[in-house]
Amino acid sequence: MSFFDIINRELSSFVAVTDAEEEVCELYSVYYSSGHKERVDRVDASLSELEIEINGGQRSFTLTIAQNPHINGELGQTGGVLWNSSVLLSEYFARRSISNWDLSTLNIVELGSGCGLVGIALHRLGAKRVVVTDQRRMMKVLAKNVDRARSKGQLFATEYDWDKGSEDMSVLSEPVDLVVVSDCVYHEEVVPMLVGAMREVCQSRADGKAVGIIGQELRSDLVHQAFVEALLDSFIVYRIPVDPSVDTFYTLYAVWLK
Ligand SMILES: C[S@@+](CC[C@H](N)C(=O)[O-])C[C@H]1O[C@@H](n2cnc3c(N)ncnc32)[C@H](O)[C@@H]1O
Repeated sequence: MSFFDIINRELSSFVAVTDAEEEVCELYSVYYSSGHKERVDRVDASLSELEIEINGGQRSFTLTIAQNPHINGELGQTGGVLWNSSVLLSEYFARRSISNWDLSTLNIVELGSGCGLVGIALHRLGAKRVVVTDQRRMMKVLAKNVDRARSKGQLFATEYDWDKGSEDMSVLSEPVDLVVVSDCVYHEEVVPMLVGAMREVCQSRADGKAVGIIGQELRSDLVHQAFVEALLDSFIVYRIPVDPSVDTFYTLYAVWLK
């Protein structure tokens, strides 16, 4: 059974998203009424290396991840450091892989991987092939983390700029089953490029059965609305409900091409 079929069996527990404005209203009203807890960050942007515990119940493990806090000349900016979303998304995959999300047959591409935590966690959870990608300036720290984490199975890091695509098209040489995106929308300007890249990677599967799983921190209502609007132009979008005790400002989506 493909990952697409697995996801489609679960649709009754997901929320169909058809209107971006309604989605944002619902998210903010539900989240604010649920107690508006302060988020407890599991990451630390000041360290050059950190141990991250992925708490996935029976599938818990610890990963050592190198960071480059000064990659952009500004402490803690962009993918030089881990974002909380990458921990939450890795833990979500860990928990789901215990029950019915079998990763062992999947070819996975992560976009905007930063330090690579989600892709590396998916590798650790037994995915068949994982390619973590980011812009050129991220490749050093990303390759270091991948080299340290690689065990049984295939784990690669390669440059893939949403705006320019990849010089190394091996990213797309095999049809992709799952595209993973963790916290890549922090400004409206990146939305069309990111959604375009998701479309391109999903099109590597001729049968339209590539699934995108997106974890996104809620920062600005307007930016989030622009993201959902752009997704809805090309994708069927479902929200996967998250337990608000995990993080009241976190959303998860499953998407696939229309
Ligand atoms: C907020 S960080 C999130 C990093 C990582 N996914 C995480 O959750 O820790 C956003 C990531 O998007 C990447 N990014 C931004 N613009 C990009 C582009 N045009 N092409 C590829 N990656 C891009 C950044 O380099 C950065 O790694």
